[in-house]
Amino acid sequence: MSDTTQSTQTSAAGRAGNPLWSSRLAFILAATGSAVGLGNIWKFPYITGENGGGAFVLVYLLCIALVGLPILIAEVMLGRRGRQSPIQTMATLARLDGRSPHWALLGWTGVLAGYLILSFYAVIGGWSMAYVAKAASGDFTGASSDTIGAMFGGLLSDPGTLMLWHSLFMLIVIAIVVRGLKSGMEKAINLLMPLLFLLLLVMVGYAMSTDGFGQAVTFLFLPDFSKLTTEAVLTALGHAFFTLSLASGAMMAYGSFLPKGYSLVSTAATIAIVDTVVALLAGLAIFPLVFANGLEPAAGPGLIFQTLPLAFSNMAFGTLFGTLFFTLLLVAAITSAISMLEPAVEWLEEKKGIGRLKGALLAGGSVWLLGITTVLSFNHWSGLYPLAFIPVFEGKTFFDVFDYLTANIMLPLGGLFMVTYAGWCMKPQALAQALELHPAVLFNSLRFVMRFIAPLLVIIVFINQLI
Ligand code: PFF
Repeated sequence: MSDTTQSTQTSAAGRAGNPLWSSRLAFILAATGSAVGLGNIWKFPYITGENGGGAFVLVYLLCIALVGLPILIAEVMLGRRGRQSPIQTMATLARLDGRSPHWALLGWTGVLAGYLILSFYAVIGGWSMAYVAKAASGDFTGASSDTIGAMFGGLLSDPGTLMLWHSLFMLIVIAIVVRGLKSGMEKAINLLMPLLFLLLLVMVGYAMSTDGFGQAVTFLFLPDFSKLTTEAVLTALGHAFFTLSLASGAMMAYGSFLPKGYSLVSTAATIAIVDTVVALLAGLAIFPLVFANGLEPAAGPGLIFQTLPLAFSNMAFGTLFGTLFFTLLLVAAITSAISMLEPAVEWLEEKKGIGRLKGALLAGGSVWLLGITTVLSFNHWSGLYPLAFIPVFEGKTFFDVFDYLTANIMLPLGGLFMVTYAGWCMKPQALAQALELHPAVLFNSLRFVMRFIAPLLVIIVFINQLI
């Protein structure tokens, strides 16, 4: 690919002192690094299990194609056009397009969503880290499903250990963000992403050899619409946003480093396809084990931590594969987490003149502090429902509240406004120029999707949920 060698200096549009991505491939890798993470391997399987399988997966795929992809294109486009942190980008664009300065709020809600997500994401990232250690020390070898279940239960009930891993995870994320987004990250993702992919294939290969594979394929791909609730549709929509890192500042911030002249549509499509394939592979690796071992598909957030170790306990070189797998999961989590912290740090730097070190410590430190509420949600505070007086938050712990509030409310609403901005607030010529999409028929179709299809689908899902 010749564009990988294109120099950063060739684009004049970059911010002073902030080089653009060195190529389209570099951007794809970083954005895929943000998209592919715990959402694909941890969250997708467990919410699929909780929501009955096939019909949920189908709705999820439709949400990715009809809502997620157009919004991803819109968000990266806005970022590239504004070339600043999400907050400043939206303020600048609103001025440029003669729109209300209140559009900057969209940048704010994005940064805030990224921030809230990171607070619980870092705790789950901590679980992955704990599992690297468990796998490496051979804890899974020959273990029964009861032992493995008890191992996970033991981790959750121990706030001290959870805090330790959570803190370590945040320290790593802060350290990388301090060094600046691009130094080192391009290379790391370049190597680790394909490795993660490969290892997932190994896991699927193993899963195929168990006698739960057929049942898992039926569960994942044969839709049973009687199991589909309105809540499940909202969850699928919310997850499409979560898994593509939409409306949380990340993609807008990354888009701001993308040189002009690259096709946004094919770039975004590549990201969405890779992300979706990884999620489906994770499902194919996990559900056969669930069925072969008589486990519960609706086990919740612990699902992968209670199933995959079973594979490692039985397979040849299980210790090696287990260690490698959880290490790669951890890396995938870190490359996503970085993209959640980056927008806030960028804004502190740009607007408040706070250096990267101080900014990352400030933003990362407060996220870490907030994350303690998630740590406690799994033990001392497992019966504490902070927003129980609001019907949708009844029976939800701090962790559940942050998860629901971001994925099911903030991200879909943020995405709705973003695509509305692109479709309705930008003049057609400005949009055409920003998207660089030819021929006209393609541009017109995409603009139609941005104006009508994507926003209407989000609105319909919301209204459905209300009634
Ligand atoms: N897309 C990430 C995942 O699937 O794990 C999660 C995520 C990353 C959400 C970055 C939001 C974000 F800004």
